[in-house]
Amino acid sequence: MISHTLEKENIVQLKLNLNSSLQELPGWEIYMDLNSSVEELAKLFEQKPLLPGILLVQDQHYVGMISRRKFYEYMSRPYSLALFSNKPIEKLYNWLQPESFIISENTTIVEATQIAIQRSSELVYEPIVVALESGKHRLIDFHQLLLAHSQIHVLTLAQLQQATEQSRIATTNLRLLQDNHAQLVQNEKMVALGKLVAGVAHEINNPINFIAGNLDYANSYIQDLLALINLYQKYYPKPKIEIKNLIEKIDLDFLIADLPKVLNSMKVGSKRIQEIVSSLRNFSRLDEAQKKAVDIHEGIDSTLLILQHRLKENSKGQGITVRKEYGNLPLVECYAGQLNQVFMNIISNAIDALEEAMVNSHSPFSSCLLPSVFIDAPSEAMVKADSQLTRQKISDAGVGRPHWMIRISTKALDTGYVEIRIADNGLGMTEEVKQRIFDPFFTTKPVGRGTGLGLSISYQIVVKKHNGFLECISAPGEGTEFVIKIPIKV
Ligand SMILES: Nc1ncnc2c1ncn2[C@@H]1O[C@H](COP(=O)(O)OP(=O)(O)O)[C@@H](O)[C@H]1O
Ligand SMILES: [Mg+2]
Repeated sequence: MISHTLEKENIVQLKLNLNSSLQELPGWEIYMDLNSSVEELAKLFEQKPLLPGILLVQDQHYVGMISRRKFYEYMSRPYSLALFSNKPIEKLYNWLQPESFIISENTTIVEATQIAIQRSSELVYEPIVVALESGKHRLIDFHQLLLAHSQIHVLTLAQLQQATEQSRIATTNLRLLQDNHAQLVQNEKMVALGKLVAGVAHEINNPINFIAGNLDYANSYIQDLLALINLYQKYYPKPKIEIKNLIEKIDLDFLIADLPKVLNSMKVGSKRIQEIVSSLRNFSRLDEAQKKAVDIHEGIDSTLLILQHRLKENSKGQGITVRKEYGNLPLVECYAGQLNQVFMNIISNAIDALEEAMVNSHSPFSSCLLPSVFIDAPSEAMVKADSQLTRQKISDAGVGRPHWMIRISTKALDTGYVEIRIADNGLGMTEEVKQRIFDPFFTTKPVGRGTGLGLSISYQIVVKKHNGFLECISAPGEGTEFVIKIPIKV
């Protein structure tokens, strides 16, 4: 009569997966013949308090099922027990005509639950009859089906979470790849540019050295010739007419007065070219793929020199003043070429921001991150950063016009870092923009102008390569300040 039971099977021990079918659920395979008495059935239900129902057979063939619930519901009615207890189950079965619910054992638990809970409210708690491939039947408690379903639900959630996590990891990896790609592209560009710059600088270097070197000789030769002319004029005050004519034609007095000036400006010019050449070489620093102890200020100055053309006054008379507040810095062990690239990126961004503000014809913001708005101040004061002068507010001064400014300040920190702050009094940026500035390819500039790489590369160089910090302080209308911290020894 009893072929297979799993009376105390603990559902939690089941190894279910998302596609588990009813096959995997424990059930009851307890059959009774229609000819057995109702009393026998009552005893069985009493003995097996967890048995959800009884499978009924006639001549070994499945006929139907009476659930425990239906059985007791009916038997608890007055006289029912007395009426049926000695009778065969068949009588009760015909009387009750219970509907039973048969599902194939291959149905998944999820599907089966869906079907089962859609039963009419009267039947919804009835056990489920599972048709086995062997032709037999098994009874599954509805409660067990729900438990299994909830377990699968938990599993699904866990897998979903795992999938989400995996996709997050994939996204992170993608970002890393993008970062690397951006870095590679930029590195390649910088290397190419560096080579070009170094090559050009080298080519210019020799001829400019000839000129600068020979200017001194030219100067002394000219002085000698002038002295000679002087002597001639002294001892031959009345020259021949031809000489007199030429003296007039070339305006000798003017020539003598002007010549030293010409020479001097040639000297200044060639000195400047030499400076530029040395800056270009310093900037490209191709020779220094290795870490080296360098003067950070030299790097910043070279960068500024290269960007000089963008700082000069435009046709509207708007220029950008750079105020340097250099502290006492030790030599810093770093990849100098790369750090110069960081200065270049951040200072160019500041210039971009100021130019944009100029175009929008704002006046420089007074409540900017710079200590205050500055009046027209003598340039040496700018460089020396006379604190008295520079802290003078426009309103206090009453006169002068505010400056579009970039302030670059440096200092050595107690913590073994050097700090370089680069601030501008441009338009600043919104919180949303600020959140994304270090993302590769993020730019707010028009196509063709922005690449969105400058800051992401700078971040890589400062944070990843030098173990430093790169931070941005900015708010709309407050200007922008970038704070770079680099360990003195990487
Ligand atoms: N000094 C600054 N003032 C205002 N916005 C800035 C400043 N520096 C950077 N940004 C913002 O950060 C963005 C990303 O900068 P960056 O990575 O250098 O790329 P790009 O300059 O090519 O746009 C800029 O498009 C701009 O919106
Ligand atoms: Mg940029």
